[in-house]
Formats: sequence, C-alpha cells, structure tokens
Amino acid sequence: MKALVLSGGTGSRLRPITHTAAKQLVPVANKPVLFYGIESLVAAGVTDVGIIVGDTAAEIRAAVGDGSRFGARVTYLPQEQPLGLAHAVLIARDWLGDDDFVMYLGDNFVVGGITELVEEFRRSRPDASILLTKVADPSAFGVAELGPEGGVLRLEEKPREPRSDLALVGVYLFTPAVHEAVRAIRPSARGELEITDALQWLVDAGRTVRSTVISGYWKDTGNVTDMLEVNRTVLEALPPAVLGEVDGDSELVGRVRIEAGASVVRSRIVGPAVIGAGSVVRDSYIGPSTSVADGCVISGSEVEFSIVLDDSRIENAGRIEGSLIGRMVRMSGAARAPRAHRLVLGDHSQVQIAP
Ligand code: G1P
Repeated sequence: MKALVLSGGTGSRLRPITHTAAKQLVPVANKPVLFYGIESLVAAGVTDVGIIVGDTAAEIRAAVGDGSRFGARVTYLPQEQPLGLAHAVLIARDWLGDDDFVMYLGDNFVVGGITELVEEFRRSRPDASILLTKVADPSAFGVAELGPEGGVLRLEEKPREPRSDLALVGVYLFTPAVHEAVRAIRPSARGELEITDALQWLVDAGRTVRSTVISGYWKDTGNVTDMLEVNRTVLEALPPAVLGEVDGDSELVGRVRIEAGASVVRSRIVGPAVIGAGSVVRDSYIGPSTSVADGCVISGSEVEFSIVLDDSRIENAGRIEGSLIGRMVRMSGAARAPRAHRLVLGDHSQVQIAP
C-alpha cells in the first residue's frame, strides 16, 4: 500500500501567515501540520509516500526531505497547475501502479491517526473507503448522503443545500478501481477534477464505497480559529519536558514543554504550552493552549490561547489572546505619550484592539 499526500495549493485563507509558506507547513504545537499526516501514515505501516507539490514545492521539499527521518521513502510528484484532487490521482498514475493507496490532504489533521482505518481497509478491501465527520458548515466541504443501512448514496462537492451534515474528511482509501473513475469524470463548475465526483462515479458504477464516521476531533486547518483549536488539542497530549532553563523565580504549571536552549526568567507558564528552542520568556505570563515557536522573545507581556511563529518579539505589549502571530513580528508597548496604536500591518492582516 502507498500514500499519496497532497501538498500543493496556497494558503490564501491563512494570509498573511502563508504568504511566505505552504499551508501544510503551518505549525501545530511547533510542528508542521503535514508532519503529523506523514507520521500517522508511517504508524499505519504505509511508508512509500508520494507527495504532490505545486508552487510551494521548494518549501515542502526543504521541510520533508527524503522522508527518512519519518521512516518513510518520499517521492515528489509535481502538479503544474492545481486542477483538483482527482487530477492529482491522474498524474500520479504511473507512480501508484496497481497498488492500493491512502490519499491524504496535507492540511488535514486526524486526531488519533488512521491506523485502524487502514487495517480495516486492508482486511475487507472495498473499492474505496471514505471518512466522514459531522460539521457545522457542510457547504464548505464535500458532503455525503448515506442510505438507511449506512451505504454511501450520494456525494456532492460544496453543495449550496447540503443533504446532511456529514463532511468528507481529507483522507481517502482507494484500490486501483479509482483510476477508471478519475479518467471518466469531467471538471466541475470550479474547473477542477473533483475526487468527490470520482467517488460518486464509483457508487454509480455499483462499486463498494465504505464510509466511517469519525467521532474524534478533526479540523481542516484552513483558518485561524481552526488553527488555534487544533493547536490546543495537540498541546493537550504533548509530553511535558524542561530541556531549556527555568530560573528560580519562575513557575511552570501543568503540561509545559520548554525546548532546548530556551530560557524562562521571572515568568509564569500555565500549560498546556510549548516554548520553542532558543526562545526567551521574561517577566511574562504564558497561558494555556499557547505555542511559542523558535527564537522568540516574550518580555513584559501576557500571551494566552495563541500561536507565535519563529523569531518574533513581543515586548511590554499587554495581554494577547486568541491570536496567530507570524514570523519575525515586532510588537512593543508605547514607551511614552501619546499611547497610540502604531501599526505596520501586512496585506490581509486582522487586528482587534482593546481601547
Ligand atoms: C477538499 C475536498 C472536499 C473535502 C475537503 C476536506 O476540498 O474537495 O470534498 O471535504 O477537501 O479538507 P478543498 O479544501 O480542496 O476545497
């Protein structure tokens, strides 16, 4: 069995954070979301991994390399234009050969991994198997309608009037039967070859398409609120450790991880939280569900339920909550009057100010 991991596209929904990075590399608890996907494939015994890459190919390659550190063997499969998920299967045809495969969307996060699902697929080998999950906004996803026996009746991509609240999760298991389907379908209204249509084609052709509703938590990490939620979930399971330095005037409460070379001075950190390598937290409070990446300085400030990316400085900035702060950001309190907000914000920035 092989894995086809999709890591093309741009993270337009995560602007400005992803102006310089692929959305699959946005960190969750200081680790790119894509890495969790690759790790869960390897944990399920799938180590032959083809990664579909587009405009951000160089960044993905630099981050993942040959896959050896995950225990995987990675092959890069360039997709010249983002023409859809089924198009990705089409161009991967030669690499996939006649193997069964897991298709995994690199910006999706499945809590608890996929080992059981892969094992069940290997045992029963339906033509395809999909994962579904209940969502509040089904119109933003592919949506499944199940029959009374739980069989898949109909699948629709981003329907205006969804027939159920069961969204397609971005993890699909296929036998080679899917190749005929992706060749048979035509581009959708948005001009893409939809994997949803290929699945519907299989259903219509009388093939077996199984579905499993996952009750566990999952999020498409395509927006900031979801990012903060998934970050919180992962932090809740992060092994606590103090690999850096914590002075005697500081206090760590609960599940806190201080990476190597980080230092915590006269500060209070309430977990779950992680402070990345080489970061300094001084005279500050870091609250639950916060990830501070590598090389940051947090001084004289309070940061809670937030993600701070690499090399940012937050100094005398008051209290920050529910925020996603990009790389190399400089934030500081006004030292003297007027106590005005002075901002240099990139395109698509969002700021909410407490006057
Ligand atoms: C894709 C699929 C959709 C699925 C979603 C999961 O949508 O087309 O059916 O529900 O991934 O992430 P996209 O996010 O590419 O628009």
